[in-house]
Amino acid sequence: MGYERQRDFGTPEVSAPTQVALTVDGRAVTVPAGTSVMRAAAMSGGAIPKLCASDNLAAFGSCRLCLVEVEGMRGTPASCTTPVAEGMVVHTQTPRLQKLRRGVMELYISDHPLDCLTCSANNDCELQDQAAAVGLRDVRYGYEGANHLAQPADASNPYFDFDPAKCIACSRCVRACDEVQGTFALTIAGRGFASMVSAGQAGDDFLSSECVSCGACVQACPTATLREKTVKQIGKPERAVVTTCAYCGVGCTFRAEMRGEQLVRMVPWKDGKANRGHSCVKGRFAWGYAHHQDRITTPMIRDAITDPWREVSWDEALAFTAGKLKAIRDRYGARALGGITSSRCTNEETFLVQKLVRAGFGSNNVDTCARVCHSPTGYGLKTTFGTPAGTQDFDSVMQADVILVIGANPTDAHPVFASRMKRRLRQGAKLIVIDPRRIDLVRSPHVEAAHHLALQPGTNVAVLTAMAHVIVTEGLVDEAFVRERCEVDAFEEWARFVAEERHSPEALEPVTRVPAADLRAAARLYATGGEGRSDVSRRPKVNAAIYYGLGVTEHSQGSSTVMAIANLAMATGNIGRPGVGVNPLRGQNNVQGSCDMGSFPHELSGYRHISDAATRALFEADWGVSLDPEPGLRIPNMLDAAIDGSFRAIYIQGEDILQSDPDTRHVAAGLAAMDCVIVHDLFLNETANYAHVFLPGSTFLEKDGTFTNAERRIQLVRKVMEPANGFADWQVTQALANALGLGWTYTHPSEIMDEIARLTPSFAGVSHARLDAEGSLQWPVDAAHPDGSPVMHVDHFVRGKGRFVVTDYVPTDEKTGPRFPLLLTTGRILSQYNVGAQTRRTANSVWHVEDVLEIHPADAENRGLKTGDWVRLASRKGETTLRAEVTDRVAPGVVYTTFHHPETQANVVTTEFSDWATNCPEYKVTAVQVTPSNGPSDWQEDYAALSARARRVVPAEAAE
Ligand code: SF4
Ligand code: SF4
Ligand code: SF4
Ligand code: FES
Repeated sequence: MGYERQRDFGTPEVSAPTQVALTVDGRAVTVPAGTSVMRAAAMSGGAIPKLCASDNLAAFGSCRLCLVEVEGMRGTPASCTTPVAEGMVVHTQTPRLQKLRRGVMELYISDHPLDCLTCSANNDCELQDQAAAVGLRDVRYGYEGANHLAQPADASNPYFDFDPAKCIACSRCVRACDEVQGTFALTIAGRGFASMVSAGQAGDDFLSSECVSCGACVQACPTATLREKTVKQIGKPERAVVTTCAYCGVGCTFRAEMRGEQLVRMVPWKDGKANRGHSCVKGRFAWGYAHHQDRITTPMIRDAITDPWREVSWDEALAFTAGKLKAIRDRYGARALGGITSSRCTNEETFLVQKLVRAGFGSNNVDTCARVCHSPTGYGLKTTFGTPAGTQDFDSVMQADVILVIGANPTDAHPVFASRMKRRLRQGAKLIVIDPRRIDLVRSPHVEAAHHLALQPGTNVAVLTAMAHVIVTEGLVDEAFVRERCEVDAFEEWARFVAEERHSPEALEPVTRVPAADLRAAARLYATGGEGRSDVSRRPKVNAAIYYGLGVTEHSQGSSTVMAIANLAMATGNIGRPGVGVNPLRGQNNVQGSCDMGSFPHELSGYRHISDAATRALFEADWGVSLDPEPGLRIPNMLDAAIDGSFRAIYIQGEDILQSDPDTRHVAAGLAAMDCVIVHDLFLNETANYAHVFLPGSTFLEKDGTFTNAERRIQLVRKVMEPANGFADWQVTQALANALGLGWTYTHPSEIMDEIARLTPSFAGVSHARLDAEGSLQWPVDAAHPDGSPVMHVDHFVRGKGRFVVTDYVPTDEKTGPRFPLLLTTGRILSQYNVGAQTRRTANSVWHVEDVLEIHPADAENRGLKTGDWVRLASRKGETTLRAEVTDRVAPGVVYTTFHHPETQANVVTTEFSDWATNCPEYKVTAVQVTPSNGPSDWQEDYAALSARARRVVPAEAAE
């Protein structure tokens, strides 16, 4: 597409049952009641001049440029704030209106720098456009009077500048920050002529303000006041390609706006159904890693990990790799080989990696990072509902009356969805937060949780069982729903179990540390929307929705917690319609997709067990091979088997397991024991320290394909530039497959999707052509759901009847004691992403230069610690050092850190304990001790030296 900005209808879309007919400039138009005259005019093909209005903001009515005449109405009302009425006759262009608008525009222009020719917004500026639209030819007031032209610019934000000299005080930025982002970082300070936009308190600049750099204000600004630095540096874009963000599971779509071969900016796409035109700092601005100098674009090999890397041609690298793999297979058998698919890569790429392992290597030893994040979601929701995925679309939250957030920190990890959620909360929905830490949602501008249950880490199941106890014993069960939709015997067994006195909030309070009265009130609110039994009669008007994250899954009882959540939703009838449901907030951009594509060792695509002969036969016929009917090894088992000597080679696409997986020493030992570790990635990551082959990867900007977000929404990723390494990742996997003699002939990822659709019932109706035409599809897309499935389990559960599962609380084996008296829990922050491989190579690092340890003031005082001090963090598994931050965000006895920086390697201390059903590691509970330290530990210094040695490269020319 060309670069034209997306059309702006001036005021938000209205949905109303009643339609209203009117006439605008002689054109008949029918619109929903409540629509503004401005929007009706736009819908009829007109364009009323405007400055303060935008269709993602509530009408404000301040600029007075959009005046119209309405027959029978006195004066000249503002069209943005005037709703349509039946039979209304509107005139948008009359001599009187033209005169008024020119007068308004003259005032604006008389206090605006006349540097259009050198302004970065020249020909891309609404003020300029509107001046032309009203026919302004002269400014009668001159430019000498009092003005704002000498205001200093603020360039503190690494991504955008604020030049108040160009500001017209339209307030669009302030309203975007309030209404769209929900951060309330901006104000219009002063009054009248002195009014000006301010980021926080007087004297604050953008960087030191509450601003989270989402970019909504920049997008809203009709002038060059708020402007991306890249546009200033590179120039106005000339074309745009719509693609999907490669960071988190929200799946925001963007227009990648290009000039020549350079990416100028990423602008959120208003038609994106996941993000509805919004973005966060990562997707909007943190794409510079794609061009970072650390990027490896030439394949490299070495015989031993103690050797320096040798740059070689693709042919040599592939021949070397295939030779090693074949030799290992010949000597040790197919089950000595395996692979890890990437949740950062496309569905098509992931599908090919698992196909390579199953059909090429000949084993089912394939796994994915979901093993360490949401594998319990797959197990728990499949067991209870029949499908291992969330039940709702994101739009659903706008119909929720009660929102329960457990073990998730949406404002940091899923920021665009968090903004939607906060909007709903500002509209009056009630919030329950269950988290050991006081996450931002607990109290932020205009949002306050009704209940924050600050539980002891590791007691999720106990808290949820106690909530179930209240719901059952106080008569709050939706009996009609349970009778009609669920297995009644299983429900009765569960109800008897949770009703036992030992599961009451009072009995469990010593375990959970949640005051029983709070827990009871939260359970009543979730079940009824009010305070208990008397509110039950309000059903079905009350919608309660649960959103959860890794604070649920990354526990020894992760699968039990997911099932306990599903039990609560079924017991209260909160499944199968908008506004309710069970919603895992998936971490990585394509973690849903990588699971869907058959990345687990026991499942082919579409979650069909490898032992099922009919399913295997389908794949065998299509692929022309025999498949091993035995499930393969999971990641931790591959590492164990490597140490035992039976697992010898691994192909890892787009994962850094050394940094992301628990018990770092064990991961290192497993990798070091292998004969052939193939890392396919953008950068020499930590895992590559143990690799023999490095195959350069491509970024999401350099390839075509699809990602599937947390709503099961499949969206196209479109290539906007050529791969710096020469090949998209699917091409590299295909080349490796062909070096092994597989003879693959895909010429475009759309052909891979055709194969996925052919072999996977829930993707039966998916194709690139359809996605291109329709924007996105939510699986299942099949004969029963030809247009996809925004909400699941509407009339019946996928498994037929919903299944209640008894979830007994079993304390983790990880115990505190005199040596390790504190509990460590880990998480993410907004500006960095996962292991930080991408975000650390962007200006996002200004907000988070290192991982720090949050510790409660009481625990800090006992240890003589203050913010900024180095501390030693030690567990039974290992130790690391980092700086302390003293804060009451964490409860006494709990400490918290992130794992974004390899220098810290927080996973050195995490344990081998894992979820009983899926092996998902227990990242969220580690018994630790914190003591003062002088700086990095010996382990960190040794590791830094090892890393430096492992990264030596002999360039291709030198090798010749
Ligand atoms: S970038 Fe986002 S958070 Fe920052 S001021 Fe603008 S709208 Fe607010
Ligand atoms: S900074 Fe831009 S959006 Fe904000 S008030 Fe000024 S002109 Fe309007
Ligand atoms: S919310 Fe997630 S998908 Fe959206 S822009 Fe941010 S990182 Fe990308
Ligand atoms: S656009 Fe209507 S008053 Fe500004």
